[in-house]
Amino acid sequence: MLPRHATAVASPNIALIKYWGNTDDALRLPVSPSISFNLAELQTRTSVTWDSSLTADHVVINGHPVTGPALERVAHHLDHIRALAEHAGFARVDSANNFPTGTGIASSASAFAALSLAATSALEMTLPERELSALARLGSGSASRSIPDGFVAWYTGEDHASSFAESFAPTTHWSLVDLIAVVSQEHKSTGSTAGHRIAPTSPLQAARIATAQERFECCRDAVLGRDFAALAEVVELDNNVMHGVMMTSTPPLLYWEPLTLNLIKLVRQWREEDGLAVCYTIDAGPNVHCICTAQAAAEVENRLRALPGILDLRRATPGAGAHLVSTPTDPA
Ligand code: PMV
Repeated sequence: MLPRHATAVASPNIALIKYWGNTDDALRLPVSPSISFNLAELQTRTSVTWDSSLTADHVVINGHPVTGPALERVAHHLDHIRALAEHAGFARVDSANNFPTGTGIASSASAFAALSLAATSALEMTLPERELSALARLGSGSASRSIPDGFVAWYTGEDHASSFAESFAPTTHWSLVDLIAVVSQEHKSTGSTAGHRIAPTSPLQAARIATAQERFECCRDAVLGRDFAALAEVVELDNNVMHGVMMTSTPPLLYWEPLTLNLIKLVRQWREEDGLAVCYTIDAGPNVHCICTAQAAAEVENRLRALPGILDLRRATPGAGAHLVSTPTDPA
């Protein structure tokens, strides 16, 4: 049988309302709903070839064959697709990011979104967007949000089928800019999968969950109304509540570096004293995402570039969800 092949592209996303902690770790069902937009300029491109001559899955990431836990995580995700498609074969996966690894920009969301779309399409399965989002969620929770376009909400859901993400405003709805200040290029010591597992050990997680729906609705309204002042307030609050949980978990997760805190203070000062439309949010690492309006972006970028200690600065805007692409090397 001829190898079956497809290539997909997906972007990572930045959460405005964060996902931290699961009600079911195996299914990655989140304890609370979250909101994000895809980062158009950052992309993962993944080709999947199902090949009956293979005796195991082969995975190449950024040109290097992977083994150990990284290979197992991809193979485990392919197991879900094999089960869904009732397909017994193995696959060759070739995945590359257009942003350097080691910039501290998480790529698991774009990786599992692109993998889910390419692997199912190569088997000629056309899943409805909700099902594709739920499938991507099994690889990495936030990957569910890299499937739809534009501004995206991921609902907690009650089971596998009902926990998916969908778009609530198109990419063009609001020309926000994410200026990502890379503070450290070191690999984080505790990844998010382990972090979600220990979230319930924080005495603050129950309060975070109890108030999450309110922040989710407030953020969705701020996005829909293009109300930057309201957005900034809820994005920073939600970020601080999540990092409060991280810092008070057992063991504590302290992702920030001194420069992270400096940037937090500066961003607030720029907004409150200088009237710049910018706010901050931080994932499971020390890098600071400075979310600003298109009008404020050039001034914020200039100010960030003038600061000592920032290793790299990336600019991203709201983008498309995962989509298929054809490549000249596709087998006919
Ligand atoms: O999808 P994961 O397991 O990598 O978790 C992502 C967690 C955060 O980036 C910290 C928050 C979020 O909602 O993206």
